[in-house]
Amino acid sequence: MFNDFKVLDEDRPVYIQVKEYLKRMMIKGTLQGNQKLPSTRELGLLLGVSRNTIIAAYAGLEEEGFVYTLQGKGSYVAAVSFSSAASVPSWQTDWSSRINGYARQAVELDRMKRGIRADKKTISFTSIAPDEQLFELDLVRRAFLDRMAIEGNVLLNYGYAKGYRPLIELLMRYMEHKGVDMQGKDMLITSGFTEGLDIVMSALGRKNGGTVLCENPSHHTAIKNFKLNGFEITGIPMEHDGINLEELKQALSERSYDCAYFIPSYHNPTGIVTSPEKRIALMKLMAEYQVPVIEDGFNEELRYSGSHALPLIATAGQGNGVIYIGSFSKVLFPGLRVGWVLADKELISYLESIKRARNIHTSTLDQSVLFQYLHNGHLEKYLKKARSEYKRKYEWTKQCCEKYVPFARLSGDGGLHLFLEFEAGFDTHRLLESCSSQGVIFTPGDMFFTDGGGLNTMRIGFSRVSEEDIGTGLRIIGETAFKQLRG
Ligand SMILES: Cc1ncc(COP(=O)(O)O)c(C=O)c1O
Repeated sequence: MFNDFKVLDEDRPVYIQVKEYLKRMMIKGTLQGNQKLPSTRELGLLLGVSRNTIIAAYAGLEEEGFVYTLQGKGSYVAAVSFSSAASVPSWQTDWSSRINGYARQAVELDRMKRGIRADKKTISFTSIAPDEQLFELDLVRRAFLDRMAIEGNVLLNYGYAKGYRPLIELLMRYMEHKGVDMQGKDMLITSGFTEGLDIVMSALGRKNGGTVLCENPSHHTAIKNFKLNGFEITGIPMEHDGINLEELKQALSERSYDCAYFIPSYHNPTGIVTSPEKRIALMKLMAEYQVPVIEDGFNEELRYSGSHALPLIATAGQGNGVIYIGSFSKVLFPGLRVGWVLADKELISYLESIKRARNIHTSTLDQSVLFQYLHNGHLEKYLKKARSEYKRKYEWTKQCCEKYVPFARLSGDGGLHLFLEFEAGFDTHRLLESCSSQGVIFTPGDMFFTDGGGLNTMRIGFSRVSEEDIGTGLRIIGETAFKQLRG
C-alpha cells in the first residue's frame, strides 16, 4: 500500500495531489472505514513528501468529512459509505432510444463531428477563424487586469440577463456610429452570434408553419439552426452584388414568410458584399411584403478598400423590422463568445426572458474584458493591423487561385475566405478526397446550400494559412482539379 503515489502535476500543490490520492483509495475501498491512517511522519516517508504536506492533506480530508481524528491516537478513515455500487444494481440505459428528434437531427447536421481530421502537416483551408498570431495578448491581459482591479468582485457574481451594462452602452454607441437610428431599440448580449440567432428563432411565431428566406448558399450554422428550430428554408441564389432580386420577389409573391436572414457584408460562404443599391431594393421588398429581417453583421469590420455600405438596420431608419445580430468573432476573439442582438425594444424584452430562462446570462468576465479592450481603444488599432495582414493574404490567395485552379467563377470581395465554383458536374468532394491524401483540405461548398446544390463549389479559408502554404496548397488543388477535369 502507498507505493504507487506519483506527483502527476508539478504545478499543482502536492498536498492536494496527496489528498486526492488518499480519497481515491477510500472510494475504491483500499482504505476502509475506521481504518487507522499512518502517522503524518510515516506517510511522508512512504510517499516521499514532507510531513507538512501530509498534515495539510489530512486536514483537508477531515474538512471534507473523509477523515476524523482521535485526540492522542491519530487519524482514521471516516465510515462514509462508498459502496453504493454494491447496494444499487448497476443498470444500463439505452440512450439512443431515449433521445428525441432534436438531438438526432443535431447529430445528423453536425458536419464538424464527421469532418476530416487534419494532422499538423496538413494544409487546411477549412477554417475561417481569425489568425491567433495577430492577437495582442498584452492588451487583452491589461484589459482583464484593469477590469478586475475596478470591480472584480462584482464581475465574479451573477450579472444581468440583458448583459453587462457598460458593454451594452458601448455597443449601442458603436451601432449608432454605423448609422443606426437607436430610437425605440434595445440590445441583448448573447454568447456569440450563434446563440443570438437561436434565441431569435426560438422566439418567432410561425404564422406560416415556420418558413425562412435566405441567400443560397448561406452560413451553415444558420441553416442548421433554422432546421433545428423547425423552419422550412427557401434559398434565393446569389449574384455578384448580392441576392437575386427577381427571384426574391418571385418567392415573396408565392407564399408568406416568418422572417428572412441576410449576410450583407462578406457573405459566408461567397464573400460577396451586397451593393448599396441592392440593400435598398432588398429592404423595399421586405417592407412591401412585411417580412422581418434578421441581419447578420458578420465581418462588417473587415473592409479592405472602398467605403462600407450601410447595414440593413441603418437603412430602415426608425422602422423596427430589422433584427441585427453582431459579433466580433472573426475580427477579435471568438473564444470570448460575446455577441449582441440589436432590435425593437419590446422584442428585446422577450428575448431577454428567453436568455434568462436558458442560461441566466453570458459570462460577465468575457463581456467585461471585451468592454475594457474596446474602451481602451484597441479595436481601431488592431483592425488596422488585421486588415492589412488579411488583405495581403486575400490578394495572394486570389492570385494563386487564378494561377493554379481551373475554376469557372470566383467570388469574395474581402473577409477571410474565397468561394470557387467549377463547371457543372464537377464534384468537389471527390477533389477533396484526392487532395486530402496529398495533405491539403478545404470545405466543399454543398454544405452551405439550402437545396442540395453546390456540389461543384468550395470555400477556401486563408486566415490561418501561411503564404507559402497558400501557394503550395492551391497548386496541389489546381493540379488535382485539372486531372479530374481531364479524366
Ligand atoms: C455568417 C457568420 N455569421 C456569424 C458568425 C459568428 O458566429 P459566432 O459569433 O457565434 O462565433 C460566423 C462565424 O463563422 C459566420 O460565418
